[in-house]
Amino acid sequence: MIVIEHLTMRLTAGGRTVTILDDVSLEIPAKQMVAIVGPSGSGKSTLLGLIAGLDRPTSGVITLNGVEITRMSEGPLARFRRAQIGYIFQSFHLIPTLTALENVLVPLELAGIDRPTEHAREWLRAVGLADRVDHYPVQLSGGEQQRVAVARAFACRPPVLLADEPTGNLDSTTGQQVMDLLLSLHRDHGTTLVLVTHDRTLASLMHRVVALRDGRIESDDMIASPRLVGEPPL
Ligand SMILES: Nc1ncnc2c1ncn2[C@@H]1O[C@H](COP(=O)(O)OP(=O)(O)OP(=O)(O)O)[C@@H](O)[C@H]1O
Ligand SMILES: [Mg+2]
Repeated sequence: MIVIEHLTMRLTAGGRTVTILDDVSLEIPAKQMVAIVGPSGSGKSTLLGLIAGLDRPTSGVITLNGVEITRMSEGPLARFRRAQIGYIFQSFHLIPTLTALENVLVPLELAGIDRPTEHAREWLRAVGLADRVDHYPVQLSGGEQQRVAVARAFACRPPVLLADEPTGNLDSTTGQQVMDLLLSLHRDHGTTLVLVTHDRTLASLMHRVVALRDGRIESDDMIASPRLVGEPPL
């Protein structure tokens, strides 16, 4: 369960203070899939980054599974984030000097998971890249890089996956593959999914669509009642 209360984010740039998020409150139950939509500059990435604990709000509170992340200091927050949150960027963000396998190994080793290499190989197999483990990011297509990024984000099986336009840099077929992968993680593991997207078709695959405009929630619509683990796929 993610609880966001009165979240405000102001930044000062060039001597001017801009309000990027303005008193946003939102509750996302465990296992829900939510799309965050809205025009460019409406605050979608800022909101996602705050939920991930990558940034600090000006005011307001975010609680993730009962833990108030907006109050945590850096060290505990980093550990909490590794265990609880997977983050997928629009532009993949793989480490260019590491192979696909090594990229997926990073979070597993940081988390001190047993037999990390075996797990990393399993995840790469799960995303259809068993024969690409030793490839470097430049040797992979955009869709393959994003699938490595999904494997990396999900390697420690976080209950929450946050994805900022994960298909934004992909053609529609490749984007569909990545989307299928995210939906299957939700289906198989009950993962809560918060997805920023410009794509209304992708948004309609979620349970709920939250639209932002000028840093405020403009609308919040349920598409269907949340499907729990074990229920048939869409
Ligand atoms: N570090 C910063 N300093 C000042 N303004 C910022 C900063 N980061 C973001 N902004 C501004 O905050 C607003 C919201 O940005 P954000 O990246 O959250 O939008 P977005 O909805 O994700 O847009 P897009 O769809 O283009 O990715 C924008 O107007 C942006 O210019
Ligand atoms: Mg953005």
